Amino acid sequence: MGTSLPGVMRGVIFGGASHPWHNLQKNAIKLGSRLSSDMKDKEYEITGYRPQYKTDIMQLLRYMWGGDQKLNLLHFGWKYEQNPFAKGPECYLALDHGQVVGFLGFFVNRWLVGGPRSELAIPVGSDLIVHPEYRDKGLMRALHEAAFKELPERYPVILVFSPNTDSTPRALSLGFTALTEIKRLRKYHFSWLLKRKAQGTSPSPAGNEAPKLGTFGPIEVREKPLPGPMSAFDRGRAGEAHKIALLMDQDFYAWRFESQRRKYLFYYYWENSELKGYLLLRTTGHPPSGVILDFEQTESVVFDKLLRFVMGHVHWSTLTVWDLNLDSEIRRSLRKRKFIPSGWVERVLRRSQADPCVLIRPSKKDFSASDFYVRGLDLRKTENWEFKEICSDIS
Ligand SMILES: CC(C)(COP(=O)(O)OP(=O)(O)OC[C@H]1O[C@@H](n2cnc3c(N)ncnc32)[C@H](O)[C@@H]1OP(=O)(O)O)[C@@H](O)C(=O)NCCC(=O)NCCS
Repeated sequence: MGTSLPGVMRGVIFGGASHPWHNLQKNAIKLGSRLSSDMKDKEYEITGYRPQYKTDIMQLLRYMWGGDQKLNLLHFGWKYEQNPFAKGPECYLALDHGQVVGFLGFFVNRWLVGGPRSELAIPVGSDLIVHPEYRDKGLMRALHEAAFKELPERYPVILVFSPNTDSTPRALSLGFTALTEIKRLRKYHFSWLLKRKAQGTSPSPAGNEAPKLGTFGPIEVREKPLPGPMSAFDRGRAGEAHKIALLMDQDFYAWRFESQRRKYLFYYYWENSELKGYLLLRTTGHPPSGVILDFEQTESVVFDKLLRFVMGHVHWSTLTVWDLNLDSEIRRSLRKRKFIPSGWVERVLRRSQADPCVLIRPSKKDFSASDFYVRGLDLRKTENWEFKEICSDIS
């Protein structure tokens, strides 16, 4: 890391060393057009991660992560500096006179490709942001081009879980291929939603909002993973020679859920001290909503029992799961529990949450169709992948 890729691109803003963060406006397009008359040729530096820029990076990322700088620093450390599967923080920065004006990170995970002994580390493009005053000047392209120079030494392909209508067309123009679109199934607490629509604010939580931890019959609820029993399911996944599956071994569990910015609930189903299945939720907000990131079962009824318990455990405003490669048992259980495709409801509620799509690209700058094959598996085919939301960087 650390190679510098100076490039001349069009566009200039305000110049000078003091950064006008306080002048930030939400509407970047307006701002861009206001400044367009000032534009002239300008040189930006694109560089790999250097710790001296951490404070500046935090300033930029707060537009995506929120304003709690202490928590953001911890999250950055966890996500990029402590990732045991990356060879170091896989991040690229765009600098204007030493000020960070663009950031592109990669969140690295390991996958099993076509059998138990074929680990492949894959970086997922993450936290891509260009300062509003520097957009549409080619910085996203420049950040990626720096990555396409360095990443191939370490990783043959890159994934992106892109929920974003701004970045997706741009990513396609950078050589990414759309692998699949992801729809969601969602269970709504409709009376809350109607109240919220009528009042314009979230109703105060009613009753059982705080999740109780502990043991409830065969179900145990915890905030932390149980790496040993959970990774036993990984050995099952690893057997599938025709699939590409996230490698979730003990090393994965020891790191993956340690961010203090995120809250998880693990629901375990035990029978005679044997783990028969689990369901993993990420929880956010007040009133709380839950996202089902992962689940496993050894018998077909276990998922449904866990789901029923989860639904009564907390007063969720919504519960969501990716509708991708779901097997028929799981789908039946979700339907029975009144999970519905989220698209039309979100449109009625006028919430602008776009469904994610998964993009893929070989990491080298120039590539051919053969670079999409690993162990004879075509990485462009959705059916070759086991995708659940736990695979993404946003989980
Ligand atoms: C998305 C974002 C990173 C783009 O950054 P940017 O620096 O303005 O993008 P670029 O100017 O480098 O655009 C990249 C390329 O896409 C092209 N492009 C732009 N709009 C396009 C469109 N609608 N369709 C196809 N290509 C498009 C550009 O022309 C450019 O190619 P060029 O360099 O050959 O001209 C920036 O708008 C941003 O920070 N948005 C807010 C945060 C965000 O949404 N991040 C993505 C999270 S998934």
